[in-house]
Amino acid sequence: MQKLIIEGGAPLFGEICVQGSKNAVLPVLAACVLCKGRVFLKNCPCISDRYAAARILSALGAKTDSEQGVMSADCENITSSEIGMELMKSMRSSIIFMGALLGRMGECTICYPGGCNLGPRPIDMHIAAMRKMGAVISDDHGYISCKAPEGLKGCTHSLSFPSVGATENIMLAAVCAEGETVISNAAREPEICCLGDFLRACGARISGDGGGRIVIEGVSSLTPPPEPFEIIPDRIAAATYLSCTACAGGELLIRNCTPVHLEAVIPVFEQMGCSIRVFGSNIYIYRKGGLRAADTIRTMVYPGFPTDVQAIVMAPLCTAEGTTVFVENIFENRYRHADALCRMGADIRAEGKVAVVTGVRRLYGTVTEAPDLRGGAAIVCAALGAEGATEISGVGFIDRGYENIEGVLSAAGAKISRITEEKAANHRKEV
Ligand code: EPZ
Repeated sequence: MQKLIIEGGAPLFGEICVQGSKNAVLPVLAACVLCKGRVFLKNCPCISDRYAAARILSALGAKTDSEQGVMSADCENITSSEIGMELMKSMRSSIIFMGALLGRMGECTICYPGGCNLGPRPIDMHIAAMRKMGAVISDDHGYISCKAPEGLKGCTHSLSFPSVGATENIMLAAVCAEGETVISNAAREPEICCLGDFLRACGARISGDGGGRIVIEGVSSLTPPPEPFEIIPDRIAAATYLSCTACAGGELLIRNCTPVHLEAVIPVFEQMGCSIRVFGSNIYIYRKGGLRAADTIRTMVYPGFPTDVQAIVMAPLCTAEGTTVFVENIFENRYRHADALCRMGADIRAEGKVAVVTGVRRLYGTVTEAPDLRGGAAIVCAALGAEGATEISGVGFIDRGYENIEGVLSAAGAKISRITEEKAANHRKEV
């Protein structure tokens, strides 16, 4: 088991180049199943969820490879439509292979997906949409068998909630379905547009992605894009490095990001008292002196404040002067990081959807554990500005979404290292 050790108090400096987006590459890798041929992808993040998706593709008979930062997936011969429980449980995005396999094979056998424990996370909208397109789906004690022997038929879906995953699954099921599919109240996240761009590059007839209404005209098959397809930058990783700087102090140039994707996030750092400059695909952040509390933060679907940044922005607000109120509107149980931050000395009262953060003078290092991906990232941010050393276990959660987090941050001046369990025990004896 590995741990991160962070010695707080070192201000950040220099620059960070943002990784490719986890939440964009995963649906694109599922979409490769629909392509008879070899797809090349650029800017794929080296994170464990990407390798989990590659393992799923291999289990289906595809060949994956990566060379000098370009990943390839050859789905010429898909020989299986079954994804075992271990692979399905490895992440939430495994559920997106359902639409792709139904589109390619006309059937699939899967089970409920894994992913961070943020509350129930049902897949009812995914199942209902596939059934509406003609799939016969049975749930046998967690194993889900889907069959569409006559292929899928396009239809109109009106989502009760603009679910990102359900929107992606319907897109993948619809691109080779018979006739037209309309998704109203579709998710508008940038990752949806990235998937739409990829599918168009493969010959799909799809429009309206990024708006609330997506229209797809089924085609007979998809072919690999003529050029390697570039994955968009990870907006949540960019927000994380903004938060690291707000916590640790110093100045950082965050390169290769898409500032427009962070329009709901950047003002919060300005309210805190950080100075931010945006130019091209770069964001410059400078934090000197104390932080101030922010206005109430309500998580919303895009383009509102992203739920994935809620924990991350809570970290610097723990030592901001004043009180900040959070309202988590997307997931039922997304304050699991509050306990760890409180053990570092934060004053956070979380009840249901609401968390009230009252700033304290400083946080203190502790021995703690990442409760989930973004909660773990929040603890890393907080530890950078805390007094003393913090030891974080559960690093596997963090590695699901962040590429070499200790390498990226130590290159920017942070005192952070990754050690194995036994070394951690010895480290505690030394200090
Ligand atoms: C995607 O998850 C992201 N994951 C999440 O990022 C992100 O937090 C979330 O979208 C919201 O933006 C990936 O893209 C891999 P949803 P997803 O379907 O698709 C309910 C991270 O940290 N719902 O938009 O699972 C659901 O319970 C991760 O990178 C149903 O009720 O999110 C939740 O309350 C965490 N029934 C809400 O909708 C369904 O069938 C939003 O879920 C589907 C969803």
